[in-house]
Amino acid sequence: MLIIRTITELKKCIKRAGASTSASPRKRGSSNKTIGFVPTMGYLHDGHISLVRAAKKENDFTVVSIFVNPMQFGPNEDLDKYPRDEKKDIALLKKEKVDILFLPGTKELYPGGFKTTVSVKELSGVLCGASRPVHFDGVCTIVCKLFNLVEPDTAYFGQKDGQQLIIIKKMVEDLNLNVKIKAVPTVREKDGLAMSSRNMYLTKEERAQAPVLYQSLLKAKELINNVGATCQAAPTKIINTMRKMILNGTNGKAKIDYIEIRDAKTLDKIKKINGGALIALAVKVGKARLIDNITIQNNNRGLASQKL
Ligand code: PAJ
Repeated sequence: MLIIRTITELKKCIKRAGASTSASPRKRGSSNKTIGFVPTMGYLHDGHISLVRAAKKENDFTVVSIFVNPMQFGPNEDLDKYPRDEKKDIALLKKEKVDILFLPGTKELYPGGFKTTVSVKELSGVLCGASRPVHFDGVCTIVCKLFNLVEPDTAYFGQKDGQQLIIIKKMVEDLNLNVKIKAVPTVREKDGLAMSSRNMYLTKEERAQAPVLYQSLLKAKELINNVGATCQAAPTKIINTMRKMILNGTNGKAKIDYIEIRDAKTLDKIKKINGGALIALAVKVGKARLIDNITIQNNNRGLASQKL
């Protein structure tokens, strides 16, 4: 695995990789080999690794980036405290036989005088964007830069960050970026808690309570599938049930940022669940702001029912 810290070196290596392994035909000659890319902020866990494995499986050449992107953190957020463990991350990625790890410093990606922002309007202002107003502009700007540097055929994103995934897809569509976006299912701990680098902020007690978030999502799914008992007001009822469950499960300590049911593609609010719906939540448990979501497909039993 090559560990690369500068843009110049990255470009050279990707070109060289193309020459020696004939990666990606678009940019690199006549062979039909491909580059898979996994952007991350490090402190890697099995969720990240499942993206790496998908990229490895489906491509000839795999690039992973680790960069804790200051632009996507608000002034009072956890940029300084965000967990980092470069040594462990390198060891994990070596084990996965990643070809290139791109590990740039902040000045490499944001040199003095950087002025551009990539912003996907509307989609970036709801759910997490409502309480983190600069977040998705920061995400889109860095991901767009990384796409331009790595020139991947396919990039892999986790369903865990459902809104991020939808926004990145929209950015790629709107800007005609030459990359395919693939979604990878959320990887969970045995008790259902979605894996996240931020889970390390949880105390023992909070960690024991945190699975209630996923349990509340499963309860919502069950209620939706149990269509006979519900009506048009289902989203509000479901959200209230989830809210109660989460507060009970954390002895009233959780601070619910949002629990929402929205259209899984447009993120429009829905009054009636009759199509692909995203049930998403963000909850502060102690110092950790945890997010999770599930998608309810059209073909789930009852969803197309007139009763909803
Ligand atoms: P980070 O939080 O490190 O996540 C990197 C990728 O791993 C994202 O696509 C995320 O959705 C995915 N991921 C995280 N936890 C997961 C889990 N439990 N199961 C499956 N996938 C999971 O998301 C970011 O970094 C940044 O915003 C980034 C896209 C790198 C831009 O800075």
